[in-house]
Amino acid sequence: MSDQNAPLAVICAMAEEKSALKEHMSFMETHDLLGRTVTIGRLDGHDVVVAESGVGKVASAVTAALLAREFGCRGLVVSGVAGGLDPNLHIGDTIIAHSLVQHDYGHLHDTALTPFRPGIPPLGEHRRDYSFDLPPDLAGRLTRVAEEIALPDLPRDLLSPDAPTAHRRPDGLARRVLMGRILSGDQFINSETVRRRLHRDFAAQAVEMEGAAVAQVGALLGLPVVVVRCLSDLAGSESHLDFQRFVAAVAPGAAIVLRRIIREL
Ligand code: ADE
Repeated sequence: MSDQNAPLAVICAMAEEKSALKEHMSFMETHDLLGRTVTIGRLDGHDVVVAESGVGKVASAVTAALLAREFGCRGLVVSGVAGGLDPNLHIGDTIIAHSLVQHDYGHLHDTALTPFRPGIPPLGEHRRDYSFDLPPDLAGRLTRVAEEIALPDLPRDLLSPDAPTAHRRPDGLARRVLMGRILSGDQFINSETVRRRLHRDFAAQAVEMEGAAVAQVGALLGLPVVVVRCLSDLAGSESHLDFQRFVAAVAPGAAIVLRRIIREL
């Protein structure tokens, strides 16, 4: 990321995601930006401006553009939770995006959506460059760091045998941190059929509602965008219950990973 003296913008959609980061910040002051409270301070020695954007692509894109312009940010980071799409992943695993796709942008036919690059008319020849990808050197550095991160076990009471989702994280299995493709769209995914389709059509690991919109802003402004997401649910028929049960417990996982990778940004 360019001018190392400029701050990094960190965008969190929800309060739980922002407070997991604020706990580790120092020299904090607050600033109002069109109704969003921006916390300005330092995170492990790095200047950051952290905002709760609200949920969805428009809320996060507006926030990203405002932060970038108001504070002259050198890069954009999105930190928070997501739904897992890959059946090999479990609640509490964390994905760092090497590739971001707006899964709801494109040309809708009777039976399928052909994805297009956001910003260009979704008509005519299929545009294959619909994903926003990390530069290979940054992706390589983050891959190496990700392999070394160990996350603490989730609280046992959340995983107890009578918990509705207990079977999803086998006892004693270490939480994983890996690079992957993250999808974003203006929909909370609460369907096993849709989860399977998104995983198959996009070869993606996780789904959320902001990251690829911030990536579009980053592409326009020439800023790198890094998205870190800890899985709060598995996007299937119980995802609405899992999300509520796990959001506060897993949000700190994304903050831990961000604190480990921030020196690479
Ligand atoms: N963020 C967390 N879980 C999600 C889901 N299932 N769908 C979309 N965004 C999410």
